Parts: sequence; C-alpha cells; structure tokens
Amino acid sequence: MEKTNQQSLSDKIIVLGVSGGIAAYKACDLASKLRQSGAEVITVMTSAAQQFVAPLTFQSLTHRPVITSLFTPIEEWEIEHISVAQKASLAVIAPATANVIAKIALGIADDFLTTFVLATRAPIIICPAMNCDMYANKVVQGNLQCLRGRGFHIVEPEEGMLACGDVGKGRLANVETIFGRIRSLLCARRDFEGVKVLVTAGPTHEHIDPVRYITNPSSGKMGYALAEAARERGAHTILVSGPTSLPSPAGVETIRVDTAADMAKAVFDKASDCKVVIGAAAVSDYAPELAADQKIKKKPSDFTLKLKPTLDIIGELGKHKGRRLLIGFSVETRDLIENSLRKLKSKNLDMIVCNDVTQPGAGFATDTNIVTILDKKGGSEQLPQMSKLQTAHRILDRIHELL
Ligand code: C5P
Repeated sequence: MEKTNQQSLSDKIIVLGVSGGIAAYKACDLASKLRQSGAEVITVMTSAAQQFVAPLTFQSLTHRPVITSLFTPIEEWEIEHISVAQKASLAVIAPATANVIAKIALGIADDFLTTFVLATRAPIIICPAMNCDMYANKVVQGNLQCLRGRGFHIVEPEEGMLACGDVGKGRLANVETIFGRIRSLLCARRDFEGVKVLVTAGPTHEHIDPVRYITNPSSGKMGYALAEAARERGAHTILVSGPTSLPSPAGVETIRVDTAADMAKAVFDKASDCKVVIGAAAVSDYAPELAADQKIKKKPSDFTLKLKPTLDIIGELGKHKGRRLLIGFSVETRDLIENSLRKLKSKNLDMIVCNDVTQPGAGFATDTNIVTILDKKGGSEQLPQMSKLQTAHRILDRIHELL
C-alpha cells in the first residue's frame, strides 16, 4: 500500500460491525488493515458473530476492547453506544447478514450494533455476505434498496464459491474493495463542489414492436459509478439512465429513459447549465424506422427491418459546446486507440475513455474496468484493472485538471 494512504486514516475512528456469518473471519483481515492504516478501530460484534470468531481475536488486532453486548458492564464510560455513535468517523458492517440488514431497514435496535446504527450520524458502509439464494431474495434486495435510498453505502458481495458449497453472488466483497470504499469516503475530496455534472448511463431500447426491441449488454455500472463518485466529491449530479436494474444512487437527480430519442431529450433539457457532461451510455446507433403498434406475426418468409440512425447526443452537444467539458466513452473490439481518437475529434470532445471490451475484467457487465484515457491535447493514460468506482475517480481526477 502507498505511504500516503497508510497515513490517511490516522485521525479516524472506525466502528467495525461484525455480524454472524462465516465471513466474520474475513473481518479480522479488515480490522488489521484499518489498524495498520492508522485508524482507531472499535469492533462491535453481534452475539451470532461471537459464535464464529472470538472477540479476543479482534481485541488483539485492534488493541481495544471489543463491544459484545449492550448490557456488559463497561470499564470506560466512553464505550457507551451514544458516545461511540458520536465519535465515529465512519462505520462499516462486514459481514452484514440478511438479519442485520433487515433490522437496520426497519429501525430495530435490539443489540449494540443496531442501536449504534440508529444513533450515529457517521456514514455507514454495509457489506452483505450470505448464501446466494438468500441474497437474491426479494426481501433482502428490497431492504438493501431501502437502505441505499437512505444514504447507506452498500459494497455488493462477489460471485463465486460460497462456504455452503453453492456458487453464486453472496461472497463478502474483497477486503481491498471494502478498504478502498472506506478510504474514498473518509478521504473524499470536495473538489467538484459548485460544479454541475451530467452523466449518461446504460443501454437504450429501440422498439421494433410492443414486445421486441434492439439493445446491447451495457449494465450501466460505469455511468452509475461516475455519478456516485461525482456526488461524493461535491458535484450537483444528474444521471440520465437508460433501462438498467441498478438502484438510483442516493443524492443524485436520476432521470430514467427508454430510447435514444428519450435520452437525447432529457440530456438537451438538462445540459445547458452543466459544466461537465459525461457520455457513458451505450446509446443505440440505429433504431427501427417504424415501431409496429401490434406484435409482428411470424411468417415463413425472410423479414427485413429498416433502421435509421439515432441522433448522436454527445456529438450534438459537441456542435454547441461553449465552455462545457465533454467526455465520451468508446467501446471497440479492434483498433481501439485509432477509432477513439477519431471520435474525440469528430465529436469535439475534451476527453475520451477507451474500453477494450475483449479483455477479461473490462467492459459491459463486469464490476471492474480497464480503460485508457485520451485527451484532446494528445495526452494518454492507461489505467490498470480496478473497480468501476475507482476508475470513475481516476476519470474525475483528469476532468478536474481540465476544470
Ligand atoms: O460513436 P460511438 O457510438 O462509438 O461513440 C460513443 C460515445 O458517443 C459515447 O460517449 C456515447 O455515450 C456517445 N453516443 C451518444 N449518442 C449516440 C451514440 C453514442 O451520445 N447516439
């Protein structure tokens, strides 16, 4: 880890909430990492968590007594739930079980951890970990959605082999990812304060008839990460999103659209007073010339669909650019740099983020990305594989230089 990062948490008090899942053992690693980065770590364990890992483990790693109950007699008055709530710089619950997530969503306060959550005003990161079917359950997803809407930060679990033997999404996020999220929240720069940023994200649906459309595999994750990062850094952020299954990021004005034409309208409505416009959406380049009112019936003969080009949203903004910064994205399967430089010029962009979707760990539906940033002055920066949120921050760093 870089030295600057190690020093960056030295004046922070982090409450580490550990609930009762097998991933509790991974929280030991997180506790150790936080402590090594200079933070003071106060561990709060639910009673189920103590069945998996002994409090003594966390006590040894953090050099502090561990809070195991609301009612244990305490030596220091300071470790009372209100004072902990007031002095916490941030809280991270890792792993967060379905039970703890549900209690927090409902405002139940029947142990130290959930009481603390109600009492604190510190930012809270929730890192769910559970069996994949439990994670996919609508109740759990509904509770997470509700928490997101209330400003909780969710670090999604990863896909893979679970302790129970099932394979799916539910494994606690990598400790590095959780640590990165903690650092980005605690060390958030407010360098976009007073700047209005518009981000487009996701695919578009171009309707053929009421039951069919043309689209692409864009998940919207990169654009949503950019919107979240811009908001974190103080920007007034507008997200114009095509159809995705992602929840609207808290604190971001999100406008949901369906077709390229809808997206163009929403962007042109909102872009006039935006200082920065980032086109991360995978807008369809063509739409059916006519969408049929009724379902087109199957016939044994060939079927030809006539397509017409859609409006190039970012390209249109490039024609009347003013003092606005325009950032485009480029997805290519070959000659990435040459094609992207051509787009940078023809669309009158300040910067283009190139994405080679053929590489593993890059592209549409993944949680990570590998991009090269090109700017109109001839600058080029190749970023290593990193989470989409980290990539978003690196892109914003470059935009900030231009601002
Ligand atoms: O030309 P190409 O579609 O490859 O360019 C990609 C860039 O242009 C992306 O930033 C994308 O959001 C934007 N774009 C757009 N409207 C379109 C097509 C692409 O804003 N109709």
